[in-house]
Amino acid sequence: MATFNPGNIANMSSKKRSGSSDDQWDQFAAAKKHHHSLPPPHAEDPAAALANARHEFGEHGGVNMSIEASATFTVMEPETMRRMFTGELGPDRDFFIYSRHFNPTVLNLGRLMAALEGTEAAYCTASGMSAVSSVLLQLCSSGGHVVASKTLYGGTHTLLAHFLPRACNITTSFVDIGDHEMVRREIVQGRTNVLYFESMSNPTLTVANVPELCRIAHDKGVTVVVDNTFAPMVVSPARLGADVVLHSMSKFISGGADLIAGAVCGPASLVNSMMDTHQGSLMLLGPTMNPKVAFELAGRLPHLGLRMKEHCHRAMVYATRMKKLGLKVIYPGLEEHPDHALLKSMANKEYGYGGLLCVDMETEEKANRLMNVLQNCSQFGLMAVSLGYYETLMSCSGSSTSSELTEEEKASAGISPGLVRMSIGFNGTLEQKWSQFEKALSRMQDSSSFNNKM
Ligand SMILES: Cc1ncc(COP(=O)(O)O)c(C=O)c1O
Repeated sequence: MATFNPGNIANMSSKKRSGSSDDQWDQFAAAKKHHHSLPPPHAEDPAAALANARHEFGEHGGVNMSIEASATFTVMEPETMRRMFTGELGPDRDFFIYSRHFNPTVLNLGRLMAALEGTEAAYCTASGMSAVSSVLLQLCSSGGHVVASKTLYGGTHTLLAHFLPRACNITTSFVDIGDHEMVRREIVQGRTNVLYFESMSNPTLTVANVPELCRIAHDKGVTVVVDNTFAPMVVSPARLGADVVLHSMSKFISGGADLIAGAVCGPASLVNSMMDTHQGSLMLLGPTMNPKVAFELAGRLPHLGLRMKEHCHRAMVYATRMKKLGLKVIYPGLEEHPDHALLKSMANKEYGYGGLLCVDMETEEKANRLMNVLQNCSQFGLMAVSLGYYETLMSCSGSSTSSELTEEEKASAGISPGLVRMSIGFNGTLEQKWSQFEKALSRMQDSSSFNNKM
């Protein structure tokens, strides 16, 4: 089946099937294509890389790309169908078969994600979890082995700890990703397929040393897969050496808390293998992104950089002020955070240090009381899981998104029972929201049940 280079999709003519090659539109599109294929002046900056990607116009000259909503595609001659199935004609020449395989709109979003993360190619999926599971199933076979950070999103941890061993005989050794000797020790050359970690971990906000971990893994021939959901724009793992970058696009990239989506960014050979009709995990398991969702997300990527800057700016200001109030704050932007210098050395300039912070209230009961006043007394934020929304979202990780972990696993991952994870929003003014925070805190301190407990 088609082995085309999804990274080369910039060479594709969006009007190929119209027949005419010399109409005005084609000339205009060609001029834009030429303009956008100039050497990128700031390729290292993700926003600059995104802006340098080819701009896809709508079918009638719309400034936005069109949505190709069709599930199936027709051909002019029967012979073309056979040639598409042998791989001779593929999406790089605007030949599409069926939308569970490549879809033009989803492919365009993938092209933007590849530009954002600096990878050769990317393809988008129905959810972040399907991006995680499809990549692992593509890179590992039965008997395969993963070395993974013990501080991961609860769903990913459970997939690795319970589902993959039972369903696929793929086992995982969990490590402290900051202990490089341990990582080296656990990788078994010839047996381990993948080193897996999050650039900034959910929920503890520990930061992984991407260049060093890539050196260790690559020395032993192991593929490095990094989940960058918590730090788009802030960190670019592939530019630091990672082979594959994953996203739950349901979070910051969407920004609207209204879509579930994922992305796999990596080498064209990986994306192609995932689409293979005989062995491809995306093609055969079918977690396909709806083209209407791809269209939505493509319109949100251009302001991701602006949004991240404001999420990160407010998180930094609030973390500093919360610390001054005597709260136990965890935020990698604070100088006393153990990974502050590391993050500073890896981060793209001027985006900040991430849009999430944690307040450790030590017990679940205190965590719940804090979230209750923050939502119900002062409207500082909403009690909800997830992140990247314009409103602040708060959840007690141990009893929500990390509740799949045993008490022992939570303790080992550094998830205190009172850890409140906050995804800092940017609606309202910074001072308005801060006064809501202060009001809620003083309400909590005033309440008689609270006295001497904080
Ligand atoms: C770091 C991380 N990776 C992956 C996922 C899974 O993403 P989705 O909910 O889009 O399937 C999540 C979801 O919370 C997450 O936080």
